[in-house]
Amino acid sequence: MGDVTIDETMRGRDRMLAAATHQAVDVTPVWFMRQAGRCLPEYRALRKQHDFMTVARTPELAVEATLMPIDRFGVDGAVLFADIMLPLEGMGVEFEIRPGVGPVIANPIRTRADIDRIQVVDPEEGTPYVLDALRLLRSELGGSAASLGFAGAPFTLACYLVDGRSSRDYPRTKAMMYGEPELWQALMDKLTDVTLRYLVGQITAGADAVQLFDSWLGLVGAETYAEKVAPYTRRIFDGLRGVAPTIHFSTGTVQLLQQIAATGPDLVSVDWRLPLDAAWTVMGPERGIQGNLDPTLLMAPWPVVEAATFDILDRAGQRPGHIFNLGHGILPETDPDQLARIVELVHGQRHG
Ligand code: CP3
Repeated sequence: MGDVTIDETMRGRDRMLAAATHQAVDVTPVWFMRQAGRCLPEYRALRKQHDFMTVARTPELAVEATLMPIDRFGVDGAVLFADIMLPLEGMGVEFEIRPGVGPVIANPIRTRADIDRIQVVDPEEGTPYVLDALRLLRSELGGSAASLGFAGAPFTLACYLVDGRSSRDYPRTKAMMYGEPELWQALMDKLTDVTLRYLVGQITAGADAVQLFDSWLGLVGAETYAEKVAPYTRRIFDGLRGVAPTIHFSTGTVQLLQQIAATGPDLVSVDWRLPLDAAWTVMGPERGIQGNLDPTLLMAPWPVVEAATFDILDRAGQRPGHIFNLGHGILPETDPDQLARIVELVHGQRHG
């Protein structure tokens, strides 16, 4: 990628990739976690006709949902409509996604035999529809936004596999992590292999950048992270270095920020628990940063949202390497107009 002339207007894809590689941008790029679906009436209409897995498994429908927030908000990143659970199918793990509940595993993974039965497959075999959707998405976008692939991180996938469904504490998962180190290692090894292959497959199929979702990482302390989680995360980022830009996502992980940065992603997504500049100082200037508006703040009147958006931009101070986002996913009850206004505001602040 060459140098960027900042008095020209960039397109969304270039803006995202420039920020991901710490180059100058015309305005700060912005997209929203869980933007494809959730609060959009057009998504709800699509879901009335088709269930979740049908949308995910049909590239034309998945791309239709992916493009909804691009059309409506003009965001710079298009996160593929998919779910972190999809690769489990290729691994031979049966699950369903229950509306309002989330993923439910038919037979949770608890024993050595359960782990041995997990198949490590290539994504062309396990999830060909995800790759087809990314190929289609790239051509549909034509540079208007970066196409973003993603995967669940091994720890967060393990939480679902072992506990079987969403939980506050994931007690069975943590019991295996602390009490059965050999099983934990075998499980994390397999999940790391599948996840790395899955992300490489997505990039080959056309994802411009990929995000690794470690959504439940906030349950882990610093010492445990170093021993039981970080080595696997590092293996994934090592495998993707030079292939495409990478983003690490987690929430509630103030205690881990430095260690997360050291696993080697290009950008680290941070939540609202630390101000953006404070989080950036902890991680060091070599990492880019994504974030960090509190999604519940979008329930407040616009002037409150406006002030919070300006505050984040001020704290970023036009340093290269910032992508504006929420600290976690959009809540279903969010007014889409608030999101449209944020994009307008962020795109209205030219970098000098
Ligand atoms: O931005 C997007 O909407 C892109 C697609 C996307 C989905 N899931 C679609 C989805 C993405 C990026 C995800 C990631 C995901 N899935 C994560 C990591 C992100 C995070 O929020 O921490 C996790 C933990 C999951 C697992 C999962 N899938 C949960 C917890 C749920 C239930 C959510 C809820 O409150 O209903 C799902 C289902 C799901 N995945 C929906 C969507 C649009 C809602 C299901 C529906 O339409 O019926």
